[in-house]
Amino acid sequence: MARAGLVAALLVLGGCGFGTDTLEGVDPEAAPEEPTYSEHVSVIMDLRCTACHAEDAQPGEAEGYGFDTCAKVKRAWGPLWNTVAVSQTMPPGGAERLTSAELLTLQRWREQGGRCD
Ligand code: HEC
Repeated sequence: MARAGLVAALLVLGGCGFGTDTLEGVDPEAAPEEPTYSEHVSVIMDLRCTACHAEDAQPGEAEGYGFDTCAKVKRAWGPLWNTVAVSQTMPPGGAERLTSAELLTLQRWREQGGRCD
């Protein structure tokens, strides 16, 4: 089960042009099996995105994207995933890219329906 999930995740990530070097060492155990918004997703967003993408952020929801609520994260899922996993342009500048464990956490959450609890 867990193995099938990982293979699916690798295929999806690979299909998005995600570099194989980044995939090496993706530890399925490093990401929670059933991530929740409050315990995992919001923590990643707060750590990586909401300094610029929130109502009270400095640029103030940069480019119209706020990631400070579950509804906003789900509404902008396409562009969000694109910038962190495909084009890898966010977070910008010299900021560290999201780790494979963080990406796997976000992806599992979305695939499992993106519940807001
Ligand atoms: C240091 C501030 C900063 C951080 C941190 C940041 N962003 Fe951005 N983001 C911006 C700015 C400024 C823009 C608008 C200009 C641009 O596109 O560079 C933007 C634009 C965007 C856009 C829309 C434009 C596009 O490129 O598609 C998305 C989606 C996005 N960011 C997602 C994210 C996500 C997801 C994170 C967290 C992983 C994040 N950003 C972290 C500043 C930031």
